[in-house]
Amino acid sequence: MDDSELDVLLRNERYPRSAVYSARWMVDGAMGPNPVWQAEALGGVMRLESGMRVLDLGCGSALSSVFLAKEFGVEVWATDLWVKPDENLGRVVEAGLQDRVHPVHAEAHALPFADGFFDAVVSIGAYHYFGTDDLYLGYLSRFVKPGGQLGIVQPGLAEEYETLPPPHLAPYWHWDFCAWHSPSWWRRHWEKTGLVTVEVADRLPDGWRDWLQWNEACDQDSGTPGIEAEMLRTDAGQTLGFTRVVAHRNS
Ligand SMILES: C[S@@+](CC[C@H](N)C(=O)[O-])C[C@H]1O[C@@H](n2cnc3c(N)ncnc32)[C@H](O)[C@@H]1O
Repeated sequence: MDDSELDVLLRNERYPRSAVYSARWMVDGAMGPNPVWQAEALGGVMRLESGMRVLDLGCGSALSSVFLAKEFGVEVWATDLWVKPDENLGRVVEAGLQDRVHPVHAEAHALPFADGFFDAVVSIGAYHYFGTDDLYLGYLSRFVKPGGQLGIVQPGLAEEYETLPPPHLAPYWHWDFCAWHSPSWWRRHWEKTGLVTVEVADRLPDGWRDWLQWNEACDQDSGTPGIEAEMLRTDAGQTLGFTRVVAHRNS
């Protein structure tokens, strides 16, 4: 598929800032259903200002880091486990952001930063890999200064279910979807620590449509129909979508 066709397939009026980035750049770099749209959705409900220090945890190919640095003028530590920093540095240099986006290789439980260093932490499509542990927020939040923000977006459910999966999703279910949770689950998970105040815990409006649009465009581009798009069409937003949570660290 040529790049202009891909641009058309990924037009999405909910994300006007993302629209200026090349669809090919997004498809080639993304490791999940469009981190650039999700970064825009998070940036819309966080207070991100020029010069702030932001940890982008589980940044993958650092697309969200590039987006946040360009759109909000923040300085980003683009931190990931699976993607090596030299690979991300190439993308950062290409974007002309080598002074403001710093690729770091680290495991989420062994972060090489000083306590209170960051104004904000964001995590896109990644926090559910390491953050469902009750004790993890206590570890992570210490890297944020008091009053600083934490914002996450990842695949999630409309509500928690006693028995998983809901019958209509049974043919598609993977065991590790057990880490997908509802906004109220995440709110309680964070609030029960007493360490943060949750400001937002919601489902991204029309998040399932974004996810489906993304998968259909990627499937068309690669010429391989994907089972995930079929799952999203079957569900039609009843259960699946993106959960977004924003909190600030208590003093
Ligand atoms: C599905 S990818 C999403 C990447 C990127 N945010 C995106 O949306 O394209 C999940 C990312 O989480 C990161 N990750 C998973 N477990 C991690 C851990 N224990 N510590 C640090 N990063 C981790 C992986 O390295 C991977 O890049």
